[in-house]
Amino acid sequence: MSGQKAKTMISLKNINKSYVTGSNSLHVLKGIDLEIEAGEFVSIMGSSGSGKSTLLNILGILDNYDEGEYYLNGTQVKNMTEKKAAKLRNELVGFVFQSFNLISFKNAMENVALPLYYQGVNRKKRNKIALEYLDKMGLLEWAEHMPNEMSGGQKQRVAIARSLISKPKIIFADEPTGALDTSTSYEVMNILKEINAEGITIIIVTHEHDIAAMTQKIIRLNDGVIAEIIKNGDLKDWKQQYAKEFEMTLVRE
Ligand SMILES: Nc1ncnc2c1ncn2[C@@H]1O[C@H](COP(=O)(O)OP(=O)(O)O)[C@@H](O)[C@H]1O
Ligand SMILES: [Mg+2]
Repeated sequence: MSGQKAKTMISLKNINKSYVTGSNSLHVLKGIDLEIEAGEFVSIMGSSGSGKSTLLNILGILDNYDEGEYYLNGTQVKNMTEKKAAKLRNELVGFVFQSFNLISFKNAMENVALPLYYQGVNRKKRNKIALEYLDKMGLLEWAEHMPNEMSGGQKQRVAIARSLISKPKIIFADEPTGALDTSTSYEVMNILKEINAEGITIIIVTHEHDIAAMTQKIIRLNDGVIAEIIKNGDLKDWKQQYAKEFEMTLVRE
């Protein structure tokens, strides 16, 4: 870092979001203030329905917010046209999802190459680059395989390769290990750690304590507000606290 001030990647001030369906309005995010610096590896935790995905969708410019201010890498994100949002996403952002979101009738290489197709890169070139990213994920031999021929862990690695191919500054991952067994989950987290070590900011949503504990900063959402931010140094205590909670549930059962 050579003494330079860290660069702010995400800045949220008083973000509010409601879903309106018919005559009902559900206030999901109730004033979120948050700063995330470039290069951080952050997890967002909270019980089901606490607003994690809603927050991540706003951060990834997949959805609008009603009130507040959002700056992504210095650009104000507010009522953007879909065209402008898509441009910013293409330049800056990669996405990883719980259910992988691979295209079932395209092989691994074609899935990874897809963002380059949308950028107008010709087939030969985009497939060559896709193979390089598959290789990085240890999946070169799987390039010609279809998603239904791959394990969950392999599919998620294909999805991670796809998220990296447009050289994003930030990766958003909504429950990236939610569909994986424990050892495969740790494998995927280790890949994300390596990617983060190369300088890419990573923000994941998870409801698993052990997965969150592998990140540098845990943001705990509760009913649409940030209840707690747990940083590296505090993590050990937090793990102990979690261990106690875990024991208590065991005792109760
Ligand atoms: N598109 C939507 N329309 C209406 N309600 C929604 C929509 N998306 C989410 N919700 C509701 O908003 C709340 C927060 O959802 P979500 O952000 O998905 O929570 P989490 O990811 O933490 O489980 C939930 O009560 C959910 O049912
Ligand atoms: Mg969710």
